[in-house]
Amino acid sequence: MSTHELFATRASRMKASEIRELLKLLDQPGIISFAGGIPDPALFPAEGFSAAFQAALGPNQQAQALQYSVSEGYVPLREWLIDHMGSIGVKCGLENILITSGSQQALDYLGKLYLSPGDTALVGWPTYLGALAAFNAYEPRFDRLSINGNRGAAEYAALAGEGAVKFAYLSPDFANPTGETVDLRGREALLDLTDQLNCAVIEDGAYQALRYDGDAIPPVLALELACKGSIEDCRTIYCGSFSKTLSPGLRVGWVVAAKPVISQMVLMKQAADLHSATINQMAIDQVARACFDTHIPMLRRVYGARRDAMLQALQDHMPDGVQWTKPEGGMFVWLTLPVGTNGAELLARALDTVKLAFVPGGAFFPDGSGSNTIRLSFSNSNEDTISEGIRRLGEVLRA
Ligand SMILES: Cc1ncc(COP(=O)(O)O)c(C=O)c1O
Repeated sequence: MSTHELFATRASRMKASEIRELLKLLDQPGIISFAGGIPDPALFPAEGFSAAFQAALGPNQQAQALQYSVSEGYVPLREWLIDHMGSIGVKCGLENILITSGSQQALDYLGKLYLSPGDTALVGWPTYLGALAAFNAYEPRFDRLSINGNRGAAEYAALAGEGAVKFAYLSPDFANPTGETVDLRGREALLDLTDQLNCAVIEDGAYQALRYDGDAIPPVLALELACKGSIEDCRTIYCGSFSKTLSPGLRVGWVVAAKPVISQMVLMKQAADLHSATINQMAIDQVARACFDTHIPMLRRVYGARRDAMLQALQDHMPDGVQWTKPEGGMFVWLTLPVGTNGAELLARALDTVKLAFVPGGAFFPDGSGSNTIRLSFSNSNEDTISEGIRRLGEVLRA
C-alpha cells in the first residue's frame, strides 16, 4: 500500500484546478494576460525596500533582524498598524493585532479556529478562491451569504443542519473576483444578521486602500466598534495585507480582533511557523513609515487610470448581452457572458486564437455554478495593452 492511501479525508477536498494547466501557457510571447490579480512590479517601492534591508542587515539591527522573534509580530509594525487602523475607524491596542504571513495565513487559521467538519461558512457567491481553499481544508459546508435581507437567520440556521453557522466571510471593498463593494446599509445588515446568528464575521480588507473614486465606507469592524464601544465586544475579525500595496513577496499581513481570538491565533502561529519572517516585518515597517502616505495615492492614480481604460474598452468592444461590474477600486472587473457561453471554453479559445488570458469565473463558486462568468484584472497591464486585450476579447466572443 502506498502512503497516499493514508491521507486524511480533508486531502481529498483539495483539488488542483484545470485552469492552472491552461494558464501555464502564459509565458508564450505576445500573450496579453488579465489573469493574475497581482500588483504591477514596476510600482513596488523597491528603493525603499533596498534601504530598509540594508539597514536591517547593518550593525545596529542585524542581531534582531536575523533572529527568532515573538509570534505576535514585530512591535513597531504593530504600533504603526494601531495608527493605520485608527485612521480607518478601528481603535485597537497592541494585543488586538497579530502579524501573519500574508492574509492568506489568517484565513487558514480562522478556518482552523472556527470550523469543525460539517459546520457552515457563509461566503459570497462567487468568493475569493483562496478563501474557499483555506476553509475547505476544515471540511465545512458553504452556504450563500445574502445580506440584502432576503434570507433570515432562521433559514440559515435551519440549513446548517447538525453543524452550526460559524462565520460569514466577505471582502466588502472591491472584492476579488467581482470588484464590487458592499454599501453602508449592506454592512449594517450583515452585522444584524450575524448578531442574530451569533457567528463571527471575517472581514477581508485586502484591497481596502485601493479606492479610485467614490467615498470610503467604514470597515465592518469600525461600524461594529462604533455600536458596541469596545473591540472586545466585537464579532468582526479584520484581515489586512501589505501584498496589494507594498509587496506580496514579503508575505506580511495582519489580523485585528478581540483579544481571545488573537491569543488563540497566536497559539496556532506557534504551532505552524513560530512567527513571520523578522526581517520582512522590519522592512515593511520601515517602508510603511517612510512612504505609505505617498505611495498609496500614486497607486490609486495608476490603477485608477487602468480601471478607466478597461471600462472604456469594454464599452467599445463588447457585443450585446455581455454585462460587467464597475468597480470603485481594487484590481478586478467581472463579466457575465450570455447564458450558454462557457468561460473555461472561451479561455481555451482565447489563448489559442488571440493570445489572451483571463480567469473563468466558475472556480469562484463553491457549487461550481457561474460557468458563464470571467474575471479580468487590470492591475498589471498598461492602458494600451488593456485596450488591445479587450479588443481581442470582443473578437473571440463574436467568433
Ligand atoms: C481577497 C483576497 N484576500 C486575501 C488574499 C491573500 O493575500 P496575501 O496572503 O498576499 O495577503 C488575496 C490575494 O489575492 C485576495 O485577493
